[in-house]
Amino acid sequence: MKFYLDSAKLDEIDKAYKNYGIDGVTTNPKHIMNSGKPFLTAIQDIANWIKENNLGGVEQFPVSVEINPHLEKWEDMVKEGEKISKICENFVIKIPCNLQGLRAAKELEEKGIRTNVTLVFSPSQAIQAGRIGAKFVSPFLGWKESNGEDCFQYMSQLVNIYREKGYETEIIVAAVRTGKQIAEAAEMGADIVTAGLQVYEDAFTHPYTDFGLKKFQNAWDNTKGN
Ligand code: E4P
Repeated sequence: MKFYLDSAKLDEIDKAYKNYGIDGVTTNPKHIMNSGKPFLTAIQDIANWIKENNLGGVEQFPVSVEINPHLEKWEDMVKEGEKISKICENFVIKIPCNLQGLRAAKELEEKGIRTNVTLVFSPSQAIQAGRIGAKFVSPFLGWKESNGEDCFQYMSQLVNIYREKGYETEIIVAAVRTGKQIAEAAEMGADIVTAGLQVYEDAFTHPYTDFGLKKFQNAWDNTKGN
C-alpha cells in the first residue's frame, strides 16, 4: 500500500519524502490555504520541488491538485483542469464527486488528463468514478468515522466491488487520522492512504519502543567491559 502526504506545505512534503519515502501528495483548498501562499504559487512551488528532486513524469510521484471549488459547470472545471495539468506532468486534477464534477472528470480522462474524484462518501459514488476511468478515487474515511459511521464495512465493500468489476481506478483512502485507520485501510485492500505528516509520525512510533530502548541502553551501560 502506498502512502501519500495530504499537505501543500513544501517543508512537510520534503521531510515526508526524504525521511519516509512517501509516494505522492494530495492537496485540497484547505491545504493550499494552510501553506500561506496563493493557489498558483503553492502549486508552482510543488512543481519546482518535483523538478529539483528528479521526480518528474507521469510514472511517479502523483500530486493531486483540486480545482476551484466554486466552479459549478463541467465545462469550466475541464478548462481549469487543463490549465492546471499544463503546469506539471505529475499533477492529477482533483474533482468533486457531484454531477458536474463527474462529467468533467470523464471529459478530462478522455483527453488523457488524469483525475482524482474526491469528496466520495458512498460506494455508489465510487463505482461511478471507476466506470468513467478516473485515475484515483478518494473515499473520505475520517469524516465518516467522526460522524459515527461504520467505515470498515463501507470501505471493504467498496474495495470488493472494485476488484470484482476490474476497475483500474486506484483507491486512495483519504482523511486518515490514525495508525489504526492506516492498518485497516491496508487490511481492506486499499491501494493508497493519504494522511497528514503528524498522523504518519504518530503511527510510526510507539511509547514501548522508547521504553524498550531506555531499558536496552541501561543494559548496555551495565554490561561488563562496555
Ligand atoms: C484527500 O485527498 C483530502 O485532501 C483530505 O484527506 C481531506 O480531509 P482532511 O483535510 O479533513 O484531512
